[in-house]
Amino acid sequence: MSGISKRGGSQMAIIGAGSVGSAIAFACLMRSVVSEILINDYDKKTCEGQVLDLQDAAFVSSTNVRIGTPKECGQSDIIVITAGARQRPGETRDELVQRNEDILRSVLDGMKPIKSTAILVLVANPVNILTCMAQKLSGLPLSQVIGTGTHLDSVRFRVAIKEKLKVSEMSVHGYIVGDHGDKQVAIWSSATVGGRPLIAFEEFQGVDLDETAKKVARKAYAIIDLKGATSFGIAAVVSDLALCITLNKLAVIPLSVYCERFDACMSFPVSLGSNGVERVVYPEMNEREIALIEESAKITRAACAKYTS
Ligand code: LAC
Repeated sequence: MSGISKRGGSQMAIIGAGSVGSAIAFACLMRSVVSEILINDYDKKTCEGQVLDLQDAAFVSSTNVRIGTPKECGQSDIIVITAGARQRPGETRDELVQRNEDILRSVLDGMKPIKSTAILVLVANPVNILTCMAQKLSGLPLSQVIGTGTHLDSVRFRVAIKEKLKVSEMSVHGYIVGDHGDKQVAIWSSATVGGRPLIAFEEFQGVDLDETAKKVARKAYAIIDLKGATSFGIAAVVSDLALCITLNKLAVIPLSVYCERFDACMSFPVSLGSNGVERVVYPEMNEREIALIEESAKITRAACAKYTS
C-alpha cells in the first residue's frame, strides 16, 4: 500500500454534524479529498439537514456525501471524530475532558469493529487526551490514531510571523508543539524563514516573544467570544491532513501522536501518509522550551494514566 495514492475510491466518515463536523465536510468536499463522505450524528434531524445542504454543494466536487450508520463509518478509510461538547466562552479545553471522554467511548463502541487500516483523526478537545484514549480503545496501531493537535496553532503562529516579516506563512518553518491548549509551547529557538533563524531578523529584536505566543494561544478564545465557536480553521486543517493521507504526501505537520521522548500523547511535527504517521520529528529546542513541554507532558501523562492501567 505504501506510496500509492488512495484519494480515488476512498471514504471519509465524520462523526458529529455540528458546526465543526459540517465545516470539515464542506472543506473536504470543496477539495475533493475523498470519493465519499459519510456523516453520522446522534441528532438525526441536524445530520439530515447538514447532509442535504452539503449535497447541494457537491456539484462543484467529485465527492459524494450521505448519512452513514456508525458501523459503516467504522469501515471508512479516514474516520474524523468531532462529536463532543464544545468550549463555552471562558472555558478551557481541558474542562471538557469528562464529558468528551464519555462521548468518545460510546462513539468508538458504536463503530466497532473498526477497519484495520483506518486512520482515526481526533478533533474534539482536549485533543491530546482524547487521542491517547482512542489509541487505547480503538485497537488500531498507534501510527493510525492521530489528533489535530497544534496544526491549527502552528498555522496561527505562522500567520503572526507573516504579519511581522511580510513573507508568506507557507515560507515560515516554525511550530507550536505540545498541548493544543493553554500549555502549548512556541518553538522560537529553531523557527526559520528562508533558512535564517526567526530571532535573528531585525523585526524581532526587542519583540516580546512570550506575548506574541500568548496571542496565538488565545486566538480560539477570541473567536469563541465573538461567534461562539471556531470551525473554519480546524476544517481547513482536517482537509489538509486528509489530503496528506489520501495522496500519501508524507508532509510534516504537527499532530497529536504518542511521543516516546516525552512518554505522552502530545503534538509534534510528524510525517503523514497513507499508512498514518511514518515518523515523529522533534525540532531543535532550547532548555526552557523542553522544560515547558515536560511540565505539560506530566499533566497529560497523569490524565491518560487511567487508560493504561
Ligand atoms: C481551535 C479549536 C479547534 O483552536 O480548539 O480553534
